[in-house]
Amino acid sequence: MAKRLRYGLIGCGGCGVGKHLASYALYPDEVELCAVYDFDAAKAKAAAEQYRVPQVYATYEEMLADPRIDFVSVATPNAFHAPITIAALEAGKHVHVEKPISMNAEEAEAIVEAKNRNGKLVMVGLNNRFTELSQFTKQYVDEGHLGEVYHIRCGWRRRRGIPSWGGWFTQKALAGGGPLIDLGVHFIDLSLHFIGFPEPVSVSGATYSKFTGKPAKGKDAPPPMDVEDLAVGFVRFANGCTMSIEYSWASNVEREENFSELMGTKGGLRLLNGELTLLGESCGVPTNIVPQIKNTSSWGENEAKHFIECMRRRREPLAKPEEAVRIMRIIDGLYASAESGREVLVSPVAV
Ligand SMILES: NC(=O)c1ccc[n+]([C@@H]2O[C@H](COP(=O)([O-])OP(=O)(O)OC[C@H]3O[C@@H](n4cnc5c(N)ncnc54)[C@H](O)[C@@H]3O)[C@@H](O)[C@H]2O)c1
Repeated sequence: MAKRLRYGLIGCGGCGVGKHLASYALYPDEVELCAVYDFDAAKAKAAAEQYRVPQVYATYEEMLADPRIDFVSVATPNAFHAPITIAALEAGKHVHVEKPISMNAEEAEAIVEAKNRNGKLVMVGLNNRFTELSQFTKQYVDEGHLGEVYHIRCGWRRRRGIPSWGGWFTQKALAGGGPLIDLGVHFIDLSLHFIGFPEPVSVSGATYSKFTGKPAKGKDAPPPMDVEDLAVGFVRFANGCTMSIEYSWASNVEREENFSELMGTKGGLRLLNGELTLLGESCGVPTNIVPQIKNTSSWGENEAKHFIECMRRRREPLAKPEEAVRIMRIIDGLYASAESGREVLVSPVAV
């Protein structure tokens, strides 16, 4: 049997433990859980006890200096993604970094450079790409059933759901933004993944902060908040396709929904709250087809399996950092447009 890949987790919060540690623990023949680190030593200790991880490091630098570690996950607040990912690459580790890859496109580009310089792999934690429904949808679009996809509508709108855990999600210096950078990366990425990542050329966006000062989900007191609670926007791509977006943590809509809707010349599809509907026409009549597929894998399970295979076979992972640079340029552009009140151009990047 090949040597097991030796793993370290940096950031032992909800996602680090609930997704990364829990998912890599599903593959004990492939992965040895070796070490954890968290800024908060008690959280690292609790994670180590729960998953029987032998080593708790006092700093991430010490973990990265351990030559036995092959790869790490970075699941800290967004502000630390780029510096820790780059340090891990320089230390010769493969990195599974959470979404968003970074605070902005400039940091994401620095990650790509460090990856190329060190010849290691980086995968971004875009778990929505790895669900059974998303994999089916990607295949369906690739087989040409929609024809030319010329417009996308995507979003994730919460009626009330400003995150309060940890406190950092609502602080620009730690998160980089509100629901656009938090929820937006998931469904902008997924929609562009379905249609082969066209190059964005211009964006127009608006952001709103109408719920600042109101109590967060399950809390009595308002969280410290200097980010938007709603972002809307419009993106034009070089191939003529367009995309409209809506992301909110709080808005007066009927109910929470996340969606990616593709409109093509031969057909359309709608992925809504984990239900897929194919929109076509038969015998001259519009038809809605519901594929009998359910998402059965747990959060991060397929994603972890994919990264293990990529490390074993030295293959570029899906959810590449180069694509994440493109996403971050869209997000940077939307925030810049929201601030200036004008459409802004997006510079090209190879993916
Ligand atoms: N892919 C998904 O579905 C998904 C879901 C939730 C969160 N996330 C992402 O995961 C990351 C973490 O989010 P979370 O919900 O786990 O937040 P969290 O607040 O629960 O956990 C963050 C952890 O990082 C620790 N931390 C803070 N600064 C650190 C530092 N400098 N070095 C090491 N650890 C540090 C905190 O003590 C905390 O334990 C974020 O980037 C978030 O966007 C992704």
